[in-house]
Amino acid sequence: MASYLFLCLFLLFPHLYASFSSSGSHSCSSLIQFKNSFSINQTEDAYLSCGPKSYPKTNSWEGTDCCSWDGVTCDHLNAHVIALDLSCSWLYGNFPSNTTLFLLPHLQKLNLAYNDFNLSKFPSEFGRFTSLFYLNLSRTGFAGELPSQVSHLSKLVSLDLSLINGHEQFTIEKHALRGLVHNLTEVRHLFLDGMDMSSVNAHVFMNLSSSLRSLSLANCDLQGKFPKNIFDLPNLNLLNLGSNPILSLDPLKLNRSSNLEHLDLSFMPFSTEFIDSVDNLQALKYLDLSGSFFSSVSIRKSGYLFTGGANFFGGLPDSMGNLVSLKFLDLSNSNLSGTVPRSLGNLLQLTHLDLSGNQLSGQIPRSLGNHLQLTLLDLSQNQLSGQIPSSILNLTQLESLRISENSLNGSIPDELILK
Ligand SMILES: *[C@@H]1O[C@H](CO)[C@@H](O)[C@H](O)[C@H]1NC(C)=O
Ligand SMILES: *[C@@H]1O[C@H](CO)[C@@H](O)[C@H](O)[C@H]1NC(C)=O
Ligand SMILES: *[C@@H]1O[C@H](CO)[C@@H](O)[C@H](O)[C@H]1NC(C)=O
Ligand SMILES: *[C@@H]1O[C@H](CO)[C@@H](O)[C@H](O)[C@H]1NC(C)=O
Ligand SMILES: *[C@@H]1O[C@H](CO)[C@@H](O)[C@H](O)[C@H]1NC(C)=O
Ligand SMILES: *[C@@H]1O[C@H](CO)[C@@H](O)[C@H](O)[C@H]1NC(C)=O
Ligand SMILES: *[C@@H]1O[C@H](CO)[C@@H](O)[C@H](O)[C@H]1NC(C)=O
Ligand SMILES: *[C@@H]1O[C@H](CO)[C@@H](O)[C@H](O)[C@H]1NC(C)=O
Ligand SMILES: *[C@@H]1O[C@H](CO)[C@@H](O)[C@H](O)[C@H]1NC(C)=O
Ligand SMILES: *[C@@H]1O[C@H](CO)[C@@H](O)[C@H](O)[C@H]1NC(C)=O
Repeated sequence: MASYLFLCLFLLFPHLYASFSSSGSHSCSSLIQFKNSFSINQTEDAYLSCGPKSYPKTNSWEGTDCCSWDGVTCDHLNAHVIALDLSCSWLYGNFPSNTTLFLLPHLQKLNLAYNDFNLSKFPSEFGRFTSLFYLNLSRTGFAGELPSQVSHLSKLVSLDLSLINGHEQFTIEKHALRGLVHNLTEVRHLFLDGMDMSSVNAHVFMNLSSSLRSLSLANCDLQGKFPKNIFDLPNLNLLNLGSNPILSLDPLKLNRSSNLEHLDLSFMPFSTEFIDSVDNLQALKYLDLSGSFFSSVSIRKSGYLFTGGANFFGGLPDSMGNLVSLKFLDLSNSNLSGTVPRSLGNLLQLTHLDLSGNQLSGQIPRSLGNHLQLTLLDLSQNQLSGQIPSSILNLTQLESLRISENSLNGSIPDELILK
């Protein structure tokens, strides 16, 4: 049926056939030339991060119909290449600024994540892909400065330019970032982790689209005050501001109507009032507030000595037990005192619980044995005392258990050690 329809179309509109063959084969040769500008070399990053998706997709490119090649998607009518997914494909080498990739103006989705472009300069020609709604250049080894032309991609719904920690230096200048925030009115997912934003005041993010779902700005050297209104965005699901040691966050009352599921404010200073309302975030699955107090941590690039920050005087509130959807909870190195509240035992979904490096005292509550899904439990470097509760034997999924550097009495049951 489909091919009959196709035939009819060509009979009725011969010019369609012309555009099919010419633009189609043209796209194919552009793709071949793009492929030939790189060698194939498996990066450790792709190997570790992509799992079975890590293989050289371009190696199987053969024949003349590029629409059937691995990673290539065409629109049916005129065979324009509209999507290219070469993530984790072991492409290695300098990214030519005149690459034939830029001759594919109909691209709507482009994913080149987890290849290694050898610290190439980011070509301003990316600004030509004005049909793009998805661009993923995460961990591609671009270096230098993000060209302001990227803000011409005003249809983007998802932009991922996040970097490998510590490998490349990639900066964004304040006018370019302002343009990006201004023009990306449809953006829902914005990942810019690791980009050097030290020349930027964090208030530029205040005008981000109200469609925003994910905002990830870890390790960006951000400074100034982070705009509070971001927390009120109705669809916000993921917020990561971790490792921005001089970014400040005003006291805020987190709101029960929030849809936040993933919140990472590790290694940044934030207000003590904050913890009072975090228990309102009933949808939370992932909470990392670790390192909010640390005696001396030097953070990459900046070399800041981070010696302050918030800490939860008086310890963990009982109301943490309200966050019943939590799977991941990291409150390590936060100068927590007091006892481990029994209510934590309500968090039946937990797989990761890290309370290490605090000043927690008292006994390990028996209720910890409720966390049947736990794979990591770290209570080390506290002042916990008393017996290790036998309920810990319930934790049959544990892969990592650390309770050293406490004043605990007794030993870890053999059953757990033997496992
Ligand atoms: C591939 O990468 C490894 C490590 O990054 C390097 O030692 C090797 O020389 C590379 N091979 C080619 C063909 O570039
Ligand atoms: C990677 O970059 C280095 C330094 O600029 C250069 O010497 C080398 O030839 C590049 N490798 C490839 C495969 O382009
Ligand atoms: C890109 O420029 C280089 C020289 O700068 C040239 O050798 C190469 O042929 C050009 N490639 C294309 C596709 O124009
Ligand atoms: C970008 O691609 C990588 C590799 O496929 C993936 O892990 C990551 O989630 C993608 N980012 C976005 C925002 O889709
Ligand atoms: C926004 O995008 C348009 C084209 O889509 C461009 O002309 C304009 O310069 C961009 N604005 C900024 C601030 O980058
Ligand atoms: C945000 O938008 C408002 C209203 O359009 C404007 O007055 C303000 O300067 C913008 N702020 C930033 C940081 O872009
Ligand atoms: C909670 O947030 C919503 C949406 O931002 C807002 O309309 C509402 O007034 C807030 N409620 C409280 C109690 O702050
Ligand atoms: C850590 O918390 C204790 C109270 O539990 C407080 O006295 C102390 O000043 C805190 N340390 C720092 C460096 O803030
Ligand atoms: C956990 O262990 C305790 C005692 O070790 C036992 O009484 C309790 O029923 C166990 N709970 C679950 C859910 O298995
Ligand atoms: C440890 O347990 C033993 C036997 O239960 C008890 O005699 C001893 O006082 C305990 N020590 C501490 C420090 O709690």
